[in-house]
Amino acid sequence: VRVCAAGLTPGEFSWYPSNHDRNGRQRKWAVPAHEFAGEIAVCGSGVLGYGANDKVFGMNDWYQEGALAEYCLTRPEWIAPKPTNLSHFEAACVPIGALTAWQGLFEHAKLRSNERLLVVGGTGGVGAYAVQLARAAGAHVISTAPTDCLRFARELGAHQVIDYKVVRFDTILLQDIDVVLDTVGGAVLERCRNVLGPRGRIVSTVTTGKEIERSRQDVTSFVVQPDRDQLLEITSRLNNGSLRAFVDRVLPLSELSSAFEGKLKKRRRGKLVADIQSLGAFAASAGR
Ligand SMILES: NC(=O)c1ccc[n+]([C@@H]2O[C@H](COP(=O)([O-])OP(=O)(O)OC[C@H]3O[C@@H](n4cnc5c(N)ncnc54)[C@H](OP(=O)(O)O)[C@@H]3O)[C@@H](O)[C@H]2O)c1
Repeated sequence: VRVCAAGLTPGEFSWYPSNHDRNGRQRKWAVPAHEFAGEIAVCGSGVLGYGANDKVFGMNDWYQEGALAEYCLTRPEWIAPKPTNLSHFEAACVPIGALTAWQGLFEHAKLRSNERLLVVGGTGGVGAYAVQLARAAGAHVISTAPTDCLRFARELGAHQVIDYKVVRFDTILLQDIDVVLDTVGGAVLERCRNVLGPRGRIVSTVTTGKEIERSRQDVTSFVVQPDRDQLLEITSRLNNGSLRAFVDRVLPLSELSSAFEGKLKKRRRGKLVADIQSLGAFAASAGR
């Protein structure tokens, strides 16, 4: 794939697959940014359904190299046609957040219509998709949000929004939550148990830390996997406007190392995205 844009996940350098291969051996110089949008440059023999110049988006498996490069190698089952109404920048920010939300809610928590769901971090990169998808699935959605995002959380579809800067969710919710989707971890994850009803289950996207170790018995944590069928479903919802995607801002090459060092504060909602076409311009100007 000739990459046009790549979504950034600043924490990924500390994740296990960035530093190990599938056999547990040390891995060096992993190429980061595992979600992308671009155009097919060339297909391998036996690839059906795609041709040169098709616009696609998707995510690579974490053990595969990422997309912070002019070209990336991917597999047909990890990509889908790019949503027609999204720019490359918008599309590149979708796969990890939307697939994580989808898999957390429907594969791991097995969320059902009419169940009560708490999304902790419901206006973040994963949470914003979780709130939208859960509402569309008929759940009663409660979301935490920072003070300046309360309205945004309601626009996403939350029935109830709790300002986490002002009040702890476990001091106002009763013990009647069927599913908690946690995207924050730490002490916040510990508090999720206080609001669970009798059928309650907790799924966390935060896969590291002592809290997960201690909580392993009753918390499902998982790592998002590429999935073409789910991407196709997400694409159709993006195309018909029932799902919205959010870009914080587009970064040139010169700002990428600051982003991965965690030095860039988000300004808006959504993810940071790398403008890979500017990488191409950089390589050309460097005489390649
Ligand atoms: N397991 C996987 O496969 C997978 C996939 C994607 C992401 N992740 C992980 O999931 C986590 C979330 O990712 P993301 O992209 O959604 O991050 P994000 O965009 O930073 O969203 C996190 C959200 O949580 C909010 N928050 C922070 N502290 C809180 C608290 N004490 N109580 C309630 N809400 C709080 C943040 O609000 P503010 O805006 O006020 O900070 C933000 O809205 C990260 O740890 C990421 O590494 C895992």
